[in-house]
Amino acid sequence: MQEIKYNQYSKEALEGLTRGAFLNVSHEGQDNTMTIGWGSLGYIWKKPIIMVMVRYSRHTYQMLDEAGEFTVSIPFGDEFKKELVFCGSQSGRDMNKFENCNITTVRAHSVNAPLIDGCDLHYECKVVYKQAMEPGILCGDLDDKFYKNKDFHVLYYGEIVGTYAK
Ligand SMILES: Cc1cc2nc3c(=O)[nH]c(=O)nc-3n(C[C@H](O)[C@H](O)[C@H](O)COP(=O)(O)O)c2cc1C
Repeated sequence: MQEIKYNQYSKEALEGLTRGAFLNVSHEGQDNTMTIGWGSLGYIWKKPIIMVMVRYSRHTYQMLDEAGEFTVSIPFGDEFKKELVFCGSQSGRDMNKFENCNITTVRAHSVNAPLIDGCDLHYECKVVYKQAMEPGILCGDLDDKFYKNKDFHVLYYGEIVGTYAK
């Protein structure tokens, strides 16, 4: 694993994200991961930033909200397809997903969170801003499509403090 510039693989990162990536957190001695398919990568407040969206219902929400740091591990190909489906449908409340999927982790370098071994790209992030979605502002068709049950997202803006490639 080698350290690279945050934007060196931004095209591959964004494409990989839309196919599924792992959002990893650690809190009170527990590691967890969940699949994400949405997010953005950019430059805000003179910092490289990745924004991830986590619904209140996720176990990851409680963990991340308190931990204030996270990592994102992105596979560029299909080699984690099965694990992404599993980690996107099961909750860390009920099990250790790493053990269930035989996923190997390594510790991140600059935050307290795991990285998924074998993924092509990893971002290590510290939350610098979070924003709960405000009901009623999102345009109607998106609101109907994604938030019928009012399980809104919280947007976490993470300063990228380390980027590593396989
Ligand atoms: C392809 C895919 C993308 C997903 N993207 C998100 C996302 O961006 N935000 C979110 O809150 N949940 C997303 N999910 C759902 C969570 O991964 C899922 O609810 C997971 O079981 C939550 O795990 P947890 O309870 O351990 O946090 C996605 C699921 C899949 C399969």
